[in-house]
Amino acid sequence: MTGRREVLKAGFAALAGTQLASAWAADKKKDDEPPPRPAPLMTKAVPSTGERLAVVGVGTNNYSPTTPEERAARREVLAGLTAAGASVIDTAPSYRQAEEVIGDLLADIGNRKQAFLATKVSAPEGSLQRGVEMIEESFRKLRTDVIDLIQIHSLNGIEVLFPHLTQLKEKCRVRYIGVTTSSGSQHQQLVALIRNQPLDFVQVDYSLANREADETVLPAALEKRVGVLVNLPFGGRNANNNLFSRVAGRDLPDWANAFDARSWSQMFLKYVVSHPAVTVAIPGMTKLGHLEDNLAAVRGRMPDAMQRARIEKFWDQNFEA
Ligand SMILES: NC(=O)c1ccc[n+]([C@@H]2O[C@H](COP(=O)([O-])OP(=O)(O)OC[C@H]3O[C@@H](n4cnc5c(N)ncnc54)[C@H](OP(=O)(O)O)[C@@H]3O)[C@@H](O)[C@H]2O)c1
Repeated sequence: MTGRREVLKAGFAALAGTQLASAWAADKKKDDEPPPRPAPLMTKAVPSTGERLAVVGVGTNNYSPTTPEERAARREVLAGLTAAGASVIDTAPSYRQAEEVIGDLLADIGNRKQAFLATKVSAPEGSLQRGVEMIEESFRKLRTDVIDLIQIHSLNGIEVLFPHLTQLKEKCRVRYIGVTTSSGSQHQQLVALIRNQPLDFVQVDYSLANREADETVLPAALEKRVGVLVNLPFGGRNANNNLFSRVAGRDLPDWANAFDARSWSQMFLKYVVSHPAVTVAIPGMTKLGHLEDNLAAVRGRMPDAMQRARIEKFWDQNFEA
């Protein structure tokens, strides 16, 4: 009897040992396995070339940090953006130190090749000379021989700047040419330019709370195959009147799950980038947490036409006076 009990004990011990060993092996395998990869970022093609870009980039009108901590936070955003496979960085000479900060940070991170640099130019008092100087300063500050996109800022200086930008493109110093606005009063002028100039991109204000462009600029861009960057997708940086202040204290509706929106910013961004004319949205972001939230917005399902209509109706019923 004793002998049998001993054998059974030994057998159970061996079995337990085997189970432990296989549990350990499974755990080890889990440790060795790389963490599951996040779903890929949604991309769209630039209509004039077919080059694919992730549909979210970053706007940098708040990239003049005043402390080392603020600078480090912006570095994290620029590094995280390209590490995730996104690329568009929108800036301008008029955004105080932004061009210089971006040039320095990209050189430090070593991700210039992964970035798509979009800057702007204007012609103060119609002066081509001043516009040319501004462009050359942009090359120097951004520390690059080629700028991916130069946009005529708020349509200031189209006549004098367009021929110069065309020459720069022919010399392969600039890859794409565009124009920008963030004002509804310029949308009709933008439509005329879309129809009459060989533009690669327009940049326009568009959000769930500001849909004017959907009636004018966006259909024209779609028809003429011009790429669209969207500025002010959250209604701007002013915390008193942007979209976040409107939804403060309110829960995201359950049905937003159907297109994988888990936060208000994801609903706002998915609404913008799911418009067929929109190529890339460029929300301002100076915090890694905001970048992560916004990158998650361009993964997973997007609202279809019926869901977009539902989002609009929900917004109008709940958040418009
Ligand atoms: N005429 C023109 O050409 C023109 C005019 C205006 C703007 N722009 C361009 O468009 C870009 C975007 O405009 P904008 O930056 O003024 O306004 P915006 O993108 O509508 O809003 C930016 C604000 O949203 C916050 N934010 C970003 N992601 C968030 C998230 N996930 N959750 C909560 N808050 C979030 C940002 O905070 P943090 O900064 O704290 O992250 C910032 O305060 C500008 O940076 C600029 O590049 C061009």
